[in-house]
Amino acid sequence: MQALNTEDPWSVLSPGGLFARRYQHAGGRMRLDINFELNGENVSVNVEPRMTLGDCIRHELHRTGTHIGCEHGVCGACTVIVNGEASRSCLILAVQAQGAKIITVEGLSNDEELSPLQRSFRKHHGLQCGFCTPGIITTAHALLSREPEADEERIREVLSGNVCRCTGYLSIVRAVLDARDAYRSTEQAVES
Ligand code: FES
Ligand code: FES
Repeated sequence: MQALNTEDPWSVLSPGGLFARRYQHAGGRMRLDINFELNGENVSVNVEPRMTLGDCIRHELHRTGTHIGCEHGVCGACTVIVNGEASRSCLILAVQAQGAKIITVEGLSNDEELSPLQRSFRKHHGLQCGFCTPGIITTAHALLSREPEADEERIREVLSGNVCRCTGYLSIVRAVLDARDAYRSTEQAVES
């Protein structure tokens, strides 16, 4: 485990020195400037080190498509894509996102039209209670971007981390299966 450098406590969070070390005391609370890419746009935000990425995305950057449910990594509602990996934004500190490429559900479509995966959810009625859907879609998007040949068993395995208590997974799995073709073309496979 890395030793704490008492002159630079942020060294624990940024052992490689990549972390922006500009911080300030504001109202008695320490805050830190961080920068990352959110849905293709470079964003800068000043946060308390204890703020989660999910709260940062919702409350500081106002992308409220990402939903917070259990807040301890169980439900999957808060899933965003961090450097190509589906990740629980309630378990990541915002400061850990320094320099990362992050995609939320808002980043999967443009203002004009839904993504093929989102269209497939609409077609197969995969959008159920709605609260969990952004996390389910980001999870499925990360999967199909990496594994466009994923079969039903693999899709069910990956989606098992996203808890649905309302209706079940049948429509969701059908939607993901039907969207796979779109990810087999290079245009739709989103880079990691
Ligand atoms: S809110 Fe993050 S997993 Fe439930
Ligand atoms: S999709 Fe939200 S509980 Fe089923």
